[in-house]
Amino acid sequence: MQIPRLHPDTIEEVKQRVDIVDVVSEHVVLRKRGKDYVGLCPFHDEKTPSFSVSPTKQMYYCFGCNAGGNAIKFLMEVGKSSFSEVVLDLARRYQVPVQSLAPEQRQELQRQLSLREQLYEILAIAAQFYQHALRQPQGEAALEYLQSTRKLSLETIQQFGLGYAPTSWETLYRYLVEQKHYPVQLLEQAGLIRQRQSKNSYYDYFRDRLMIPIHDIQGRVIGFGGRTLGDEQPKYLNSPETQLFNKGKTLFALDQAKSAISHADQAVVVEGYFDAIALHAAGITNAVASLGTALSLDQVRQLLRYTESKQLVLNFDADAAGTQAAERAISEIATLAYRGEVSLRILNLPEGKDADEYLHTYTPEHYREILQKAPLWLDWQIQQIVANRDLKQADQFQQVAQKMVKLLKLIDNSDTRNHYIFRCAELLSLGDSRLISLQAETLSQQVTPVQSNRKPQPFKKQQQSSAFPLTSDRSLLEQAEALLLRIYLHCPEHRQAITEALQARDLQFSLSHHRFLWQQILAETALENNPVSSDASDPLFSRLQTRCLQFEREMTSISHLFYLDEKTEHDLLRATQGVQAAIACMERVMCEKRYRLYLELWEAIDPKEDPERSRSYYELLYTEQRRLQQLDRQRQFSLTDLI
Ligand code: UTP
Ligand code: MN
Repeated sequence: MQIPRLHPDTIEEVKQRVDIVDVVSEHVVLRKRGKDYVGLCPFHDEKTPSFSVSPTKQMYYCFGCNAGGNAIKFLMEVGKSSFSEVVLDLARRYQVPVQSLAPEQRQELQRQLSLREQLYEILAIAAQFYQHALRQPQGEAALEYLQSTRKLSLETIQQFGLGYAPTSWETLYRYLVEQKHYPVQLLEQAGLIRQRQSKNSYYDYFRDRLMIPIHDIQGRVIGFGGRTLGDEQPKYLNSPETQLFNKGKTLFALDQAKSAISHADQAVVVEGYFDAIALHAAGITNAVASLGTALSLDQVRQLLRYTESKQLVLNFDADAAGTQAAERAISEIATLAYRGEVSLRILNLPEGKDADEYLHTYTPEHYREILQKAPLWLDWQIQQIVANRDLKQADQFQQVAQKMVKLLKLIDNSDTRNHYIFRCAELLSLGDSRLISLQAETLSQQVTPVQSNRKPQPFKKQQQSSAFPLTSDRSLLEQAEALLLRIYLHCPEHRQAITEALQARDLQFSLSHHRFLWQQILAETALENNPVSSDASDPLFSRLQTRCLQFEREMTSISHLFYLDEKTEHDLLRATQGVQAAIACMERVMCEKRYRLYLELWEAIDPKEDPERSRSYYELLYTEQRRLQQLDRQRQFSLTDLI
């Protein structure tokens, strides 16, 4: 396509409207870090993110390859497109009226733009037509099917704009062409009619089908899925690919799910239209459906834009075909998952049901419950590997171990890999805890082949040094504790939460001067029940200050907590996250200490001599390990972001 020169006003307006984070996140999975976003650079191969995007400056920059620029530059580079192509595309997307310099060129542009507009219009009208037909006598059976078989309320039917395409060959054609005078070509381009091969006549694409309109993210109809009411094949007929409709790029119900996805910080992907509809009707509104195709990278990226911590749950059919379907569906996004770029979970519903069927028998709460317990994709794969295998049989054991090694090799992050090595070792040990470290060592050597010039490291040592690197980083702990105390002192509304969190998790301050201040706080709050009259706005704060003044020596190391400079004042703006992050950091340190202690105790015991104690230490050790992993998963806010 020959692109005309664009008017400077158009370029300027596009620049004003476009958002760099929006644009980049369609191509790169971004994570928030401080004010900016980071991700893996699309312009060079890398495993750790050095690509950053600044919403305030509307710029991107890669510290690895020095690529940088604004949104337009980004799209030019990514799509290998020209400046005008990108601007024109953005203008379409943000509905900026396009002006070009030459009038005849302007006409051509308008023509192209208005074709899309006309397609949107005719599809919207077709959707209304189908909706109307559902409420006519001819649509009675379809409506009955929706209400009785599918158990959908009129409200849900309305919400999803469900309709019915009448049986005869030319109903829609006649309505749109003969009554409404739309050009035949437009109907054809919208995928609503087809030309008969023999003659110059047309027939409706969808006939005697239940019609499910498919919307784009902005909620405009771009196509339809039509379900047969009988046994006709195919069960679902979908709109052909058109200028507006691309099956592999579209997710059904995303327009209705997007705000719930960001709210829940998680997206649920199901296979069928009716699964998504049933979930929405049940109040689980963060659900979308893939259109019967494998989940594309493009679709996943659309979803990930709405979930900050990149949580995706795939709820695919659980039968044998479904297992394969899940694996196939994932293949394109597998790399993202192995890199830890997306937290992917697999939900298989019991008895091989799909979400729609499940909700006919069980309540939405049941669904939420199993949704919450859905295993991470890696755990799920391991489950699949060992399912129905008898590990006591040498040959099956061997096959399982080999599959595990193959899987473990794919995991990029070494902490994650070590975690799963341990998990697989446990399974291979068949409940005999003495064997675990041996199995782990064997797996570990196969997964990460040792370089020839280095002696193989026994797994236990490796585990100590890398699986859980000790946050002995005292300064991080010091900062966490100080942040918590500062929030306590300066934000009265968070005091109760802090006290409760410390108590609930049985946490103590590790640094002596912090412990000292906490004791003073406890002593002073104990007096609060019979308060001394005070005219200070925060009596506790001023009483604490007075109390602490009596301890000159200790005061030198805590007085700074009573004062706020610009930086520390700023930290308090996100006090809730601050409390969470600080508590998590403190808990992790405690947990690590216990983990190490139990590990030492467990290793010191000969299980043959004292099997019972060995087992009980192992269990303690294991509990702490689990907790550590849990904490790491939960740590949504990195402390370093906050301080
Ligand atoms: P399924 O065949 O798994 O069934 O299709 P379903 O959604 O449970 O069907 P119901 O409950 O019997 O109505 C899953 C999805 O695959 C696509 C559709 O998007 C469907 O929702 N599909 C399926 C097609 O596109 N064409 C087909 O012929 C079948
Ligand atoms: Mn179904």
